[in-house]
Amino acid sequence: MGFIDKQQQAFKNNKNYWKEQAESVAWFTPPQSILSTNQLGWTDWFTDGELNTSYLALDYHIEQGRGEQIALIYDSPITQQKQQFTYNQLTKQVAKFAHVIQKQGVSQGDRVLIYMPMIPQAAIAMLACARIGAIHSVVFGGFAANELAVRIDDAEPKVVISASCGIEIEKVIPYKPLLDKAIEKAEYKPSSCIIYQREQITASLIEGRDYDWQTLHQKAKPIAPVAVKSTDPLYILYTSGTTGKPKGVVRDNGGHAVAMLYSMKHVYGMKAGETFWAASDVGWVVGHSYIVYGPLMAGCSTILYEGKPIKTPDAGAFWRVCEEYQVKALFSAPTAFRAIAKEDPNGALLQNYDLSNLQRLYLAGERLDPATYYWLKEKTQLPVIDHWWQTETGWAIATTPLGEDNNIETKAGSTGFPVSGFKVEILDTYGKALPANKQGTVAIKLPMPPGCLMTVWQDNERFTSSYLSTHPGYYVTGDGGYIDDTGYLYIMGRTDDVINVAGHRLSTGEMEEVLSGHNAVAECAVIGIQDSLKGQVPLGLVVIKNGITDTVQELTDALKSKVRSEIGAIASLKKLVIVERLPKTRSGKILRKTLRQMIDGEQLEVPSTIEEVNVLDELSLKLTS
Ligand code: COA
Ligand code: AMP
Repeated sequence: MGFIDKQQQAFKNNKNYWKEQAESVAWFTPPQSILSTNQLGWTDWFTDGELNTSYLALDYHIEQGRGEQIALIYDSPITQQKQQFTYNQLTKQVAKFAHVIQKQGVSQGDRVLIYMPMIPQAAIAMLACARIGAIHSVVFGGFAANELAVRIDDAEPKVVISASCGIEIEKVIPYKPLLDKAIEKAEYKPSSCIIYQREQITASLIEGRDYDWQTLHQKAKPIAPVAVKSTDPLYILYTSGTTGKPKGVVRDNGGHAVAMLYSMKHVYGMKAGETFWAASDVGWVVGHSYIVYGPLMAGCSTILYEGKPIKTPDAGAFWRVCEEYQVKALFSAPTAFRAIAKEDPNGALLQNYDLSNLQRLYLAGERLDPATYYWLKEKTQLPVIDHWWQTETGWAIATTPLGEDNNIETKAGSTGFPVSGFKVEILDTYGKALPANKQGTVAIKLPMPPGCLMTVWQDNERFTSSYLSTHPGYYVTGDGGYIDDTGYLYIMGRTDDVINVAGHRLSTGEMEEVLSGHNAVAECAVIGIQDSLKGQVPLGLVVIKNGITDTVQELTDALKSKVRSEIGAIASLKKLVIVERLPKTRSGKILRKTLRQMIDGEQLEVPSTIEEVNVLDELSLKLTS
């Protein structure tokens, strides 16, 4: 069956389709119930099935005779370290660490927060939680103490697992002071913290609360995986929404396992024994699905890369890793390749490496701009596949299927076709389906396939209001786009206040809350503007209260550093402009879209009042000066 037929079958005949796919999972108790509707009107998958995600990713492969195959490759050009773990070794590490967290009082259903750099211990901690049925919540290392505190209060983790530091090229970032500050700030207090001491920094531990990873691990004994229900949560992953408070996307165990195995085979064309590399971070969904769970469940070797696309040591870094570990498929964000193309425009460094094992390049996290698509295609002579997905879905909603039996061409600017089980439609503001080539809201007709979010942690109401109530019968993705007359899908950008900066998803609403918290700020707006490297960067426009005597420079510095210290360096406001007033509609809404269009040099929607025209003129002068 070809990809498109499979895709249609999977939606029309979803019960049978996913029942068949679920057979590839080594369940402890195979499910009898395939799909059911819960009280939220949402789909639960495989409710009576029982399994363990850590078993599927580890022990199962040992049973299949792959114990001596490499499971995890750690490559850190930043620290000059390399380490490989076979399935036997990784299983032992995980089984022992599961005992460590169990001894800290963590049991099934308890939350564990993981705030780690890109070291093997991050994956070990995740898999150890899964082994005992605890729910992990990984927080990206680039987030500051305040963000960590918000997540601690929401997830209420019994234990926090962290490391003494992260390393950003040449900067060593001490994590422990950030963690201490976050715990101090949070209302909820975890009962203990387990800290992995890296050689670059030894963190000081608080007696009675903090424990040393290595000491506890040495004393631990390996424990077996427990059976959990398919619908028991595997993890919570916080992602930016339109308000200041991040959304805790909840993922199940059973649907996730089916989706991971399915996507490794049908989206990425991977087989056991091959090497898959997602050059991302475990703090993002890409890292969860395709650094840790997907490749390991599929019996592949996966790479945990603690480095950058450039400067570690040069723009040939990705190609070096691909050659060294015979990577078959590489997945990263367009921004990473834009950075490479900027430093090595002719692809000279690429010529230094033998990339004969590399078959495909996958891109996601933001729109793959045609220039980068053509550059990659020309320089690598490989299929370049832009595929679209979100933290919420956990795996690709759309891709261009390039299997042996699916010779469909990729198209520049398009993310291809919906993947099996996802029925994507373009809707107008009233929820009416739009014809080909008309741009609108990108929505997914319910039910969604296995692996997508179950709810927002502790907030069913936010789950329904964010995704389900705008257009009943659909999940609203927050993206805008269109489908052309040959069925290719184009994702053109968010329609809400979420922006994508260097593949990192950030909320402008959250940045506005931070700016508004400064006593000099009367009002403000943060918008995402185009950037040739990072895709988008945030721009802050701030109106200052009367009577403030600080200089513009002082205010600008203070506001920029406030955002940086409260959200994190990844949210740096590279540009912040102090303005007299903000353009608003009569009802007082800030004209964000118009501002964005004006700054990006697009054609403006005609302002409706003379007042708006005047304010925009003023702003335009200020921004160009
Ligand atoms: N911990 C601490 N700080 C971090 C961090 C982390 N894990 N990740 C990023 N930062 C910091 C950086 O050091 C930088 O700080 P600075 O302003 O003091 O220099 C800031 O956050 C911005 O980082 P970044 O957005 O990564 O920009 P950059 O200019 O350092 O690098 C790229 C640009 C394109 C090379 C880089 O963004 C990149 O590799 N992007 C790929 C992203 C990706 O893979 N996303 C996953 C989606 S699939
Ligand atoms: P995240 O949840 O961090 O993965 O971010 C999801 C958002 O990133 C989506 O809603 C899109 O706005 C954007 N995105 C991800 N992949 C793509 C893609 N291939 N093309 C366009 N936008 C994308």
